[in-house]
Amino acid sequence: MALWGGRFKTELDENAKNFNDSFAFDRRLYKQDILGSIAHATMLAKQNIITAAEGELIVNSLKEILSSIENKTLALDSDAEDIHSFVESKLIEKIGDIGKKLHTGRSRNDQVALDMKLYVRDNIDQVTNQLDNLLITIDNIIENNKNTYMPGFTHLQKAQPITLAHYMAAYREMFKRDFSRLLDTKKRLNECPLGSAALAGTVYDLDREFVAKELAFDKATENSLDSVSDRDYLIEYIFDLSIIMMHMSRLSEEIIIFNTDDYRYITISDNYSTGSSIMPQKKNPDMAELIRGKVGRVYGALMSLLTTMKALPLAYNKDMQEDKEVSFDAMDTVSNSISLMNGLLKNIEWNKEKMEEACLTGFINATDVADYLVKKGVPFRDAHHMVGELILMCEEKNLTLNDLDIGSFKKVCGDIVSDDIYEEISLENCVKNRKTKGAPGAIK
Ligand code: ARG
Repeated sequence: MALWGGRFKTELDENAKNFNDSFAFDRRLYKQDILGSIAHATMLAKQNIITAAEGELIVNSLKEILSSIENKTLALDSDAEDIHSFVESKLIEKIGDIGKKLHTGRSRNDQVALDMKLYVRDNIDQVTNQLDNLLITIDNIIENNKNTYMPGFTHLQKAQPITLAHYMAAYREMFKRDFSRLLDTKKRLNECPLGSAALAGTVYDLDREFVAKELAFDKATENSLDSVSDRDYLIEYIFDLSIIMMHMSRLSEEIIIFNTDDYRYITISDNYSTGSSIMPQKKNPDMAELIRGKVGRVYGALMSLLTTMKALPLAYNKDMQEDKEVSFDAMDTVSNSISLMNGLLKNIEWNKEKMEEACLTGFINATDVADYLVKKGVPFRDAHHMVGELILMCEEKNLTLNDLDIGSFKKVCGDIVSDDIYEEISLENCVKNRKTKGAPGAIK
C-alpha cells in the first residue's frame, strides 16, 4: 500500500504506478536511507518528540533491516513505490504502530535530498580512491621512464622530442586537478537538508544541527525551499565526472594510436586485448575504445540533469526523480572506466626502441638547430628561416638534420656552424637542454 493512501478512493492505475515508481532504481540508496532514518529517529527521541524507548526500538529495528539487506536475507524486491516506502513499510511490519512514528517532522522530499547527497558523498570517496590508485600507476611509469624518448606532437605531427615520463606527467596533472575538483564538490555539498520537510520546515522542535553532525555534515542547510529542490551538487559532480572521462578518453585515443601497427609504441597484453571473428591477425584495443566510447553516457547525464532542472518552480517536483538513473549510470561508468584504465596502463608494454626510433625522423630537432644558431648570435627569426632552408635541402636528399654534412650547414648558415652542432642536436641533448619548469629536461 502507498504511504499516502488516505485521501484516495481507488488504487493507482497500473501503468501510472509503473511510470511513477522509482524503487527499481532508487533501491541502491537503501543504506543512505536507513542511516538518515537512524539519525532522524535518534534526534526525535533526544528532542522528546518520541520517547527514548520508541527511539531505541526504531533505531535497533532499522539497524536489523540494514543488516538483513546486506546479508541478503531481506531482498530488495517489492512493489514498493520507492526505497523510502520500502524501508518504512519493513519497519512497520516489524514493530507496528511505533514504526509509524518515524516519519514525524519529515517528508520524502528532504529524505530523498539527503539520501542522494549521502550517496554522492560516498561515491566521491570511492572515485577519489580510484584516482589515487590510477595516479600510483602513472607515477610508476614516470619513475621508470625518465630516459625513455618519444616524439611530442602538435597537430598529431612530430614536433619536439620528449620523454615518456614527461608525457605521463601531463596526465598526472590532469588527474590531480580532477582529484581536487572532487574535493571541492564534496566540501560544497556537505550541508544536511534533513529537517526541511516537504518545503517549509516543520512545527516540531527538530535539532537539525544534531542530525547534520550525526551524518558527518558540516552544518544543516540554510533554506528549506532550496534544501529540497537543490540538485546543484549532483550536476557539479557529474560535471567533475565528465572531465575525468574526457581526460581518460584523450589518453585512450593516444593508446589506440600508439597501438597501431604504424606506430607500435606500445603493446597491450593479451588479457586486455580482444580479437576479431574473421581476421585472425587482429588484436584490438577494445578497453581503450570503450572508455572513449562511454564518455557520451556521462556527458549525456550532465545534459539531462541540467535540462531537467532548468525550469523547475520551487520547491520539489516529481521531475527531480529523473536525476537518479542517469547519474547512477554516470557514476558506475566512471568507476568502471577508471578501474579499467588502471588495469590497462599496468598491462601496456612501452616499446622503447620504437619510440626512440620515431624521434629520428620528422625533423623533430629542427627547433634545436635554430636554437643552436641563436646561441651563435643569429636572431631567432633568421635562424628559423635558415633551418627551413636546411629542411628543404634534407628533403631533397632524403636525409635527417643529423646526417647533413657540415658543408651544407655552412652553406646555408655561414661559418658560425661548427662540428659541435651534431652533439648539440642529438636526441639526448634536445631533451636534456629543455629544462624550463615543466619541460621534459626538468621532469621530476
Ligand atoms: N522517489 C522520489 C524521488 O526520487 C522521492 C520523493 C517523492 N516525493 C514526493 N513528494 N512524491 O524524487
